Amino acid sequence: MAGLCVIGLQWGDEAKGKLVDWLADGQDIVVRYQGGANAGHTVVAGGQTYKLHLIPSGVLCPRTLNVVAAGVVIDPELILREIQGLRDRGIELVGRLVLSDRAHVVFPWHVVEDRIWHELVPGDGNLGTTLRGIGPCYRDKVGRSFAVRMGDLIRPGLREQIATIARFKTASLKSLPHTQSVEFDVETITRQFLDYAEQLRPYIADTTALLLDAVDDDKQVLFEGAQGALLDIDHGTFPYVTSSNSSGVGISAGSGVPPRFIARTIGVMKAYSTRVGGGPFPTELQDAIGQQIRERGREYGTTTGRPRRCGWFDAVAVRYSARLSGASSLAVTMLDVLSDLDEIRVCVGYEIDGQLTRQFPSHVADLQRAVPIFENCAGWKSDISNCTTFEELPRLAQSYVDRLTHLIGVPIDTISVGPDRRQTIACHEGQFA
Ligand code: GDP
Ligand code: IMO
Ligand code: MG
Repeated sequence: MAGLCVIGLQWGDEAKGKLVDWLADGQDIVVRYQGGANAGHTVVAGGQTYKLHLIPSGVLCPRTLNVVAAGVVIDPELILREIQGLRDRGIELVGRLVLSDRAHVVFPWHVVEDRIWHELVPGDGNLGTTLRGIGPCYRDKVGRSFAVRMGDLIRPGLREQIATIARFKTASLKSLPHTQSVEFDVETITRQFLDYAEQLRPYIADTTALLLDAVDDDKQVLFEGAQGALLDIDHGTFPYVTSSNSSGVGISAGSGVPPRFIARTIGVMKAYSTRVGGGPFPTELQDAIGQQIRERGREYGTTTGRPRRCGWFDAVAVRYSARLSGASSLAVTMLDVLSDLDEIRVCVGYEIDGQLTRQFPSHVADLQRAVPIFENCAGWKSDISNCTTFEELPRLAQSYVDRLTHLIGVPIDTISVGPDRRQTIACHEGQFA
């Protein structure tokens, strides 16, 4: 089996969805294995734009099976809305979408808890989550006592499970300052979730067994990471992270497929940096250039619509996340967004308390104090959005890509010069300037 993975190497939104769609053609299965509807993956093809949150980005490719594996947290209402939205556009998922019976269910109390924590923590400490209930759902998964999995939705006993948890959640929220009036009505929620369960029943199965069989049968499986490696719960910029292992280390845990079946990992990185929500961002641009990148790259969240913070490419951070994720090659995306700039800067090191380093700090307090050391590259100042080969790119764009390759220490195999599926350049070894 050739397991291929697509992992974001920054703080999310690296255009993983675009790349997964582009790669999906030769694949038997596309798998989402962590995160939830905090993800927003965009696919643009045939003049149509699709924004996917829980459904894998292989969905436009008619022959792929799409799997949402055990490590994902699923909001039944949102996934049903997504299934219906695709059906309305002529994409039928019955028989082409499988949801793990081990995946955990996001309930209304998770969304309420996410919002309350957001309101309770002011200023710089605020994580700025997507408010999709992701952190609270993973917290209940690890805590075990108040968790419901997709398999529970279609088994006897759901009513009692919901009643116990809803009563506990109502009582525990009453102890917080502005949530005294929150009440989870057992009857309403039970009725709602029994209805979701019936609608989702045809999709729920044991995806761990399905993927292990695929391994035995030598199938081509593409793993679609959500978020980015720097948002990884264990190895990212904690606590300004998401609640799952969003770097390459999460693939096996979330899918159930052992690491030895993963043949290639493509690390996806923008030609600059963005971040949504709180947390340190050493190369952030809070000036006109940052604004120019935001407008040109349409850097507004796919899930929340929030403006994304923009900055120069950070080779210290990406070298770290490429190593952490075991990237065997790189995809550089959004190269076209830099086409107007006279000069492009790349962070090649940090100065922390007078010391130069290329090591990505493990503590955010140190990252907060990091002063980026920049190298300047000349801009190419021409439209590259119609280039279809590496040779067609202006010489200066080629050298920029080449410079990134050398700083990260991993070869580049794909360059993206626009949102459309067709605006993708496949590179071959030895092509670089
Ligand atoms: P994901 O979460 O990693 O899948 O990325 P998002 O979909 O959240 O954000 C990427 C955005 O950039 C989407 O609006 C894409 O349509 C768009 N996009 C993807 N690749 C390119 C590119 O090469 N150039 C430009 N200008 N836009 C791109
Ligand atoms: P895709 O898959 C960008 C960020 C949030 C917040 C932090 C925690 O589209 O790249 P959470 O709701 O997960 O508890 O929020 O993580 N975040 C993302 N940022 N892209 C994403 O997904 C993200 N998913 C979560 O903005 O800072
Ligand atoms: Mg996104």
